[in-house]
Amino acid sequence: MSKFLQWTDEISVGVEELDEQHKLLISIINDLHDAMQTRRSNDVMQGIMDRLTEYTRIHFAVEESLMRILGYPGYEEHKQQHEELIHSVMDLSKKLKFGKANVSFALMHFLKSWLTKHIMESDKQYTDHFLSAGAHARLKKRSWIASLWQ
Ligand SMILES: [Fe+2]
Repeated sequence: MSKFLQWTDEISVGVEELDEQHKLLISIINDLHDAMQTRRSNDVMQGIMDRLTEYTRIHFAVEESLMRILGYPGYEEHKQQHEELIHSVMDLSKKLKFGKANVSFALMHFLKSWLTKHIMESDKQYTDHFLSAGAHARLKKRSWIASLWQ
């Protein structure tokens, strides 16, 4: 069965480590979708939302560090977007916790575009700068993400 949100080359940012991190966020969103479809408890859903919040924070911190290290000129604007994105996912998480929202198709579609729109419209803009500043497109070592898949 195909997944709710599929990683494809189309959303690749051309830097493997960051693609791996995006794949992890996608898999957490898919976990939430699966939990919704199999009518899992609120606790399970909240646990997945907490995981999404946690890894989003980590991923944004990594991207922002790279932007500072590699002198990306769009840093401030991108960081601002990250703040808005983390804010909206935390807000959602809070609403679920206090019974003010349910995991629904509308919410799932919100998360889908929350992530893909940012990757397509903002993340892809840093690729050329990162690569010309010396970032490696391909991983030379296994990503730390790999240890999370077991
Ligand atoms: Fe980003």
